Amino acid sequence: MNFLTKLATENIENYNQYLNRMTVSTEVSTKKNIPFYVKGDKILDVGCGSGVMLEKLRELYGKKEIVGLEINKYAANICRKKGFRIIEKPLEEINEKFDTIIFSSVLHEIASYNDNTDKYKIIKNVLNAAYDRLTVGGRIIIRDGVQADLYPVFIEFKDKEVVKDYFKYCEDIGYNNFFTRRNVTDNTIVDFAPIIKEFCFTYTWGKDSYAREVKERFGILTADDWYRVVDNLFYIECFETNREQYLDYIERFCVIDKNLEKMFEDATVFIVAEKLL
Ligand SMILES: C[S@@+](CC[C@H](N)C(=O)[O-])C[C@H]1O[C@@H](n2cnc3c(N)ncnc32)[C@H](O)[C@@H]1O
Repeated sequence: MNFLTKLATENIENYNQYLNRMTVSTEVSTKKNIPFYVKGDKILDVGCGSGVMLEKLRELYGKKEIVGLEINKYAANICRKKGFRIIEKPLEEINEKFDTIIFSSVLHEIASYNDNTDKYKIIKNVLNAAYDRLTVGGRIIIRDGVQADLYPVFIEFKDKEVVKDYFKYCEDIGYNNFFTRRNVTDNTIVDFAPIIKEFCFTYTWGKDSYAREVKERFGILTADDWYRVVDNLFYIECFETNREQYLDYIERFCVIDKNLEKMFEDATVFIVAEKLL
């Protein structure tokens, strides 16, 4: 059983909280721009959750055919109750074409819940599947997390308890490079930027969500790799990285300095790209 399905069946309250968070994030993050980039008459939202994007699209474009793809039965059924057609199969297994395929905060989950450690290759394969299921001139729209480039960075937490949580996090993700990770003072750490950034993404959602979030990497590719993996097949029309509201989130537990400001300049990526041939 898929980990998300397991959480959904064992802990509905927590899963509802997760779905609610997605709903709020669709209102306040760059996800809210997605509907304005859709093209054509038939739209697929991959990993549609409880259907907040589907509802927005229906509101704006009542005449278009709007379809969701969701592997979590609980979420899929919520969308069906709202009157949407939901496909409950991986993209690779469907035999249908679309004019726009949306990947809103889902590629990092697909990559995280796959045992293959080559995350670039997993995303490349999903985008290949999207390419085959797009009409010529069709679009993909991606909004997802950005991994930091590899450089050492200093971070100051507001409370030494967070340092303990940081070490626990490293243990939980199986990261144990004691040569590079050290306490400078009770409240500070030096480590590689990708680990620190991912810890901040995970910690942002609080203890209730930790069991789920620690299994995922939100910053699954660096900005350069996001560009490369899309450019490989598609014509890129829009490529943006955004800070969104992540500095506000992490300010609750970190002292914000120039290093952190730089690291979270590209918290997320927003890409619109077309299939030309
Ligand atoms: C982080 S949520 C994003 C929900 C929504 N797209 C949004 O932007 O708010 C990721 C969703 O993708 C679904 N998901 C995870 N892996 C998937 C896969 N391989 N195929 C389809 N959906 C998947 C999860 O069940 C979850 O509902």
